[in-house]
Amino acid sequence: MTETVYRLVYYSHNRIVGSPAALEAGINSILEVSRRNNPLANVTGALMFNAGCFGQVLEGAPDAVEQIFERIQMDPRHSDVHLLSFASAPARAFAHWSMAFVGASVPDAARYGAIADDTGYSPARMESEELFKVLQRLALEDEGATP
Ligand SMILES: Cc1cc2nc3c(=O)[nH]c(=O)nc-3n(C[C@H](O)[C@H](O)[C@H](O)COP(=O)(O)O)c2cc1C
Repeated sequence: MTETVYRLVYYSHNRIVGSPAALEAGINSILEVSRRNNPLANVTGALMFNAGCFGQVLEGAPDAVEQIFERIQMDPRHSDVHLLSFASAPARAFAHWSMAFVGASVPDAARYGAIADDTGYSPARMESEELFKVLQRLALEDEGATP
């Protein structure tokens, strides 16, 4: 039996204030809790932090994804959560990741994250499909695989 997979893509604005070390600790604690909770709900995905924004993909059963997203939306560590898409998908793109962190190492992202850059990777400037594809490509690159 094939599973029903829904994919949710959003971006938001960082509200973790303080030093790069505080931001790094904040992102690490988000990843830690995601990697603990998501496997219990059979949810997989990827998180990106760049240019002061988070971009995230969550995939799994629609009700499981929705439940996690509802918690995420209430989190004061970010704001202006923009849902870009929530739709059925043919398969998981991040099957091996309870929550991949992509784009830069957490310390690098924390060090440079407040600076708007011109890499084109600002989650706030991307369409759903584009953000999803960038996250997918970067996650695969980090794993050493070819997309
Ligand atoms: C940008 C961002 C992404 C997050 N992603 C997840 C996630 O994928 N899974 C998750 O369980 N919590 C995630 N969280 C944390 C939730 O908002 C919430 O703090 C957490 O789910 C509470 O878990 P707990 O009840 O086990 O402490 C995220 C928070 C932020 C700010």
